[in-house]
Amino acid sequence: MRVTELRQPDLGNGFLESLKSLSRAKKVMHLAPGDAKWILRIMRRENNRATRQRLAKPYHIFVAKDGQDVGATTTLFVHESWYLSNGIFTEIKFIHSKVKEWKMNLGKVAHLGDIPVMIQKRKSRASPCRVLEAAIDEALQDGCYKTIVDCESRESQEFFIAFCFVEKEVAMRHKDFKTKRGKFPKLIGHIEDVARIRTKRKNEEKRWKGSGRLVVQAAIDRAKEIGCEELVLECEENLVPYYESLGFERRGVEMRLDLEIGKEPIKT
Ligand SMILES: CC(C)(COP(=O)(O)OP(=O)(O)OC[C@H]1O[C@@H](n2cnc3c(N)ncnc32)[C@H](O)[C@@H]1OP(=O)(O)O)[C@@H](O)C(=O)NCCC(=O)NCCS
Repeated sequence: MRVTELRQPDLGNGFLESLKSLSRAKKVMHLAPGDAKWILRIMRRENNRATRQRLAKPYHIFVAKDGQDVGATTTLFVHESWYLSNGIFTEIKFIHSKVKEWKMNLGKVAHLGDIPVMIQKRKSRASPCRVLEAAIDEALQDGCYKTIVDCESRESQEFFIAFCFVEKEVAMRHKDFKTKRGKFPKLIGHIEDVARIRTKRKNEEKRWKGSGRLVVQAAIDRAKEIGCEELVLECEENLVPYYESLGFERRGVEMRLDLEIGKEPIKT
């Protein structure tokens, strides 16, 4: 088994099947190959744009392969932190999101920073509420289906709860990535959508066992290579020991605001 970056032919060789294991975990809709091809093209365009602007490429997608067959996949999504702007970081996902009002048919997620903590650190007088309101507006305008933020303290969790955010998964951070105190902006890596093929056939299951771990390790290595100063992920409670064995530790709680206005019911 070897790990490579995702290429277009992989989409038809098991990539979409491995993503199906996320449907049980996260209730995502299944993608048609044509849509996946189109999403990959948009991600490449974003990578090229970042390169032209001398920024880090946002999308790094790894697949574990046995011959031509793909058994597991994960995405490393990279962005710079921002400071006190209304900015959000929008991640495109391999998820169907059929919002009638949008021209495009792809899943977008808005990542937010922990606004109260950032404001407190800088002893700024900016209003955290205004900053958050503007960020939510921007996420809606951009067609995101959810906004997520990782909170390390109960206080900041309560701030987001007041804006209808709800507690979701466990937020984790990799131990090998140490941020210089107070440094802004910094490069942050997110490990997203770790998924591997699940099958009832024993031999097939054995063939792919551990392939999830290989793609996560590839994403960790890439994050180190490109100089990420933080590497984070969100996962369900039962996967905490799994990610701890890969060098992650608990950081706090993922808070989520669903923005699924006008969305068709999710079919699983
Ligand atoms: C998470 C996942 C990618 C791991 O794949 P993998 O590295 O190939 O892991 P394996 O299936 O070989 O299992 C290795 C160990 O990880 C742990 N583990 C894996 N999946 C787990 C799960 N869903 N819940 C709890 N523990 C799990 C187990 O301890 C397992 O040990 P075992 O040998 O005693 O079963 C895979 O289980 C999967 O596709 N799950 C569904 C999608 C999902 O939940 N993704 C995570 C999003 S954050």
